[in-house]
Amino acid sequence: MADIRIHDKIFSPFISAESIQERVRDLAAQINSDYKDKNPLLIGILNGSFIFAADLFRSLTIEAEISFVKLASYKGTSSSGHVVTAIGLEEELHGRHIIIVEDIIDTGKTLHSFLPGLHQRQPASVKIAAFLTKPTALQYEVKADYVAFEIENKFVVGYGLDYDGQGRNYPELYQLKEEFLQGL
Ligand code: XMP
Ligand code: MG
Repeated sequence: MADIRIHDKIFSPFISAESIQERVRDLAAQINSDYKDKNPLLIGILNGSFIFAADLFRSLTIEAEISFVKLASYKGTSSSGHVVTAIGLEEELHGRHIIIVEDIIDTGKTLHSFLPGLHQRQPASVKIAAFLTKPTALQYEVKADYVAFEIENKFVVGYGLDYDGQGRNYPELYQLKEEFLQGL
């Protein structure tokens, strides 16, 4: 596989489509076994998770539902200076088993801000499925329960993840080339 160019940057092949599909099927198998007869509600965080969520959901053989939210983040007056509002989550969550589906947990800030509001709606349980985590970048206490790949702290694109809007449609994952890291 060859390097790709997106806007001004060059990315190298990182994880193949075959490896991704294999790991996603592994996670689905775990969820099938953990959530049998629980009818979990998967909640995909837009935009980045839509491809992972679709593949994961398609591999589930148990009774399950899926919905999506868009998180709008802005500077608020809270002590953290960071407020997240969820747009589009209209389902009744009370008593439901929730699986949040994220493309990547980087610092953990996004999910750390989103989780308290979710718990207020009294779900029966909340777990997190992340396609990627960057353990060395984590700054907030967020623990993913299902992880396809733990990666080093480098910028990646493909399989739903973008660089400035582009690159989401690649079926494999690409990593930013070292010499182009400046300015990110
Ligand atoms: P936090 O820091 O809140 O970040 O956990 C999560 C969000 O940051 C974006 N992100 C990336 N997007 N390649 C991307 O395309 C990356 O390597 C990357 N790292 C973080 C992403 O939107 C994610 O939901
Ligand atoms: Mg995202």
